[in-house]
Amino acid sequence: GGTDADPDDLRAERVVVSAGGTREPLDPVRFLGNRSSGRQGLAIAQAAAERGAEVVLVAAHLDADVAAEAAAVDGLRVVPVGTAAELAVAMKDVAADATLVVMAAAVADYRAAEIAEHKIKKDDTGDELTLRLVRNPDVLAGLAAARMPGRLVVGFAAETAADREELLALGRAKVARKGADLLVLNRVGWTDGFGTPDNEVVVIDGAGEVVGEATGSKRSIADRLLDLVLAHRAEPVR
Ligand code: CTP
Ligand code: CA
Repeated sequence: GGTDADPDDLRAERVVVSAGGTREPLDPVRFLGNRSSGRQGLAIAQAAAERGAEVVLVAAHLDADVAAEAAAVDGLRVVPVGTAAELAVAMKDVAADATLVVMAAAVADYRAAEIAEHKIKKDDTGDELTLRLVRNPDVLAGLAAARMPGRLVVGFAAETAADREELLALGRAKVARKGADLLVLNRVGWTDGFGTPDNEVVVIDGAGEVVGEATGSKRSIADRLLDLVLAHRAEPVR
């Protein structure tokens, strides 16, 4: 795999990738979710595994075909999670001795302030229903703040930006806020990015500098991202 001559260039890495989208329950039968398929996260996990890394995939509601593919990857450990809170606990656990953490999952920013014990009934709520939501903790920022030397923390940001400049501006503010080493940016609309096989990304470092770009299949973007991670590791500390 990858663009390097050495097919096992990640053999020293212990990689944790989160993928998919978390779901926040409202009542026993309903949830707030998002449209992340888990395809990009799986592609990264798969590429890293094929390049010799030890890989754990923390999987939040992957699309069925993506989950099936994940189960078929040799040596890939899959840890299923449901909510953002469960994802946070699982990440803290499996990332404890990781050398590389990639947060590709779409994590719910808010959860229901109260989860109804019984199915919410229209007769009880009337013509309008207001849901009260509370903020979830930022898993990526937490992992970045707690990381030891030698661990790289990579985030993803899908933004509905008008153009590349706006995308970069949003990304620079976000990477600074999160304290991540690298942030993978992509523009999304109603159809791009989510669930589609192809993607187009710009990767920036913690200082907001563009370190690389990639277009193509999610697998080729995964390999390019892993190349950029290795290049970033090799760079002298600024
Ligand atoms: N993320 C996280 N925990 C959260 C929210 C997001 O770890 N509670 C991670 C995502 O997995 C992703 C990165 O942070 O790697 C950026 O997610 P994004 O939703 O773009 O950032 P937010 O800070 O939530 O900003 P926004 O208001 O744009 O949603
Ligand atoms: Ca968010």
